[in-house]
Amino acid sequence: MHSTPKAIITGIEAYIPDYVLTNQELSTMVDTSDEWIMSRVGIRERRILKEDGLGTSFMASIAVQRLLKATHTDPSEVQMLVCHTVTPDMVFTATSNIICDKCGIKNAWGFDTNAGCSGFLFTFETIRRFIETGQYRKIIIVCGERMSSIVNYEDRTTCPLFGDAAVALMIEPSEDPSLGFQDSILHVDGIGRRYLYQTAGGSLYPASHDNVDKRMHFIHQEGQGVFKYAVVNMADVSEEMMKRHNLTAEDIAYLVPHQANLRIIDATARRMGLPKEKVLINIERFGNTAGTSIPLAIWDFKSKFKKGDNLILSAFGAGFTWGSIFYRWAY
Ligand code: UT7
Repeated sequence: MHSTPKAIITGIEAYIPDYVLTNQELSTMVDTSDEWIMSRVGIRERRILKEDGLGTSFMASIAVQRLLKATHTDPSEVQMLVCHTVTPDMVFTATSNIICDKCGIKNAWGFDTNAGCSGFLFTFETIRRFIETGQYRKIIIVCGERMSSIVNYEDRTTCPLFGDAAVALMIEPSEDPSLGFQDSILHVDGIGRRYLYQTAGGSLYPASHDNVDKRMHFIHQEGQGVFKYAVVNMADVSEEMMKRHNLTAEDIAYLVPHQANLRIIDATARRMGLPKEKVLINIERFGNTAGTSIPLAIWDFKSKFKKGDNLILSAFGAGFTWGSIFYRWAY
């Protein structure tokens, strides 16, 4: 009897824009300081895709090309490509389509997903189901955000927070059921739309001079409101995952948290009883790259991982969306 294949990550590559926007430079743009941003959020710098005429697909297709090369994959072998982004190149066509075109991926189908900062978790949960059917052998998930395209650099409450990046992951089946995607717990609560949103350009508020004048094409966040939900729910769901699998802090190799605020990450790690060295943090260098932040941390720290390492991936984001994945590193 065949066991259900488990979804495993077999490669991960990134595109990080060159431009480094420091707290020092931000403090010449708005009334803020390195001291405030470091103590309240934990970000020192973030990367920005500066050039006009380039969207998320520019970064994402470079990440995918690097992934194809690193995994010795011919574009014709890719069966599916899914792009997670809250900053698609355009409302439609889907960015996944554009990326396939730029990368010569012609035998695949795919679509975009949008689940805010929990986007990687929601997308990985979706994709692992395709892998578990046994019909798919190579699926690419690419998470990319040009957050700078929706940030108002005159609003000090949001402009220090976000950064740009793209990360592509190859997802394949593993016959060894002890490795790869083990479990997920995912949630949504639409109350979140009152706290974190970008309204203009959709069907409710179609693009107009008026809503651009009202700055509705930018991100708005009621930070404290989001913080209160995030700090409780990200810790709760991570603890629930540990209990469900009888995992102690010793059993967990690393927590890979969404990188929105160092204080939220610390609270989650405390609840899980994890020491600092088991928490992967790069918010200081990249800021909040929304749904890209968990893959970005996996990419950044992958040299630490050993086959069989238990990882807990946890996020909270716009929507609200939140959740946790229990993943066992496979190589
Ligand atoms: O990734 C998706 C989910 N998002 C999150 O998880 C984000 C959750 N929220 C947060 O991380 C925090 O709420 C923020 C980092 C966004 C804000 O930190 P805070 O400690 O909640 O600050 P606050 O909004 O309560 O503002 C405190 C003070 C205010 O001044 P007054 O009213 O006390 O005089 C703000 O105007 O800090 C002021 N402030 C700033 N001061 C200097 C807000 N932004 C800045 C700034 N520089 N950049």
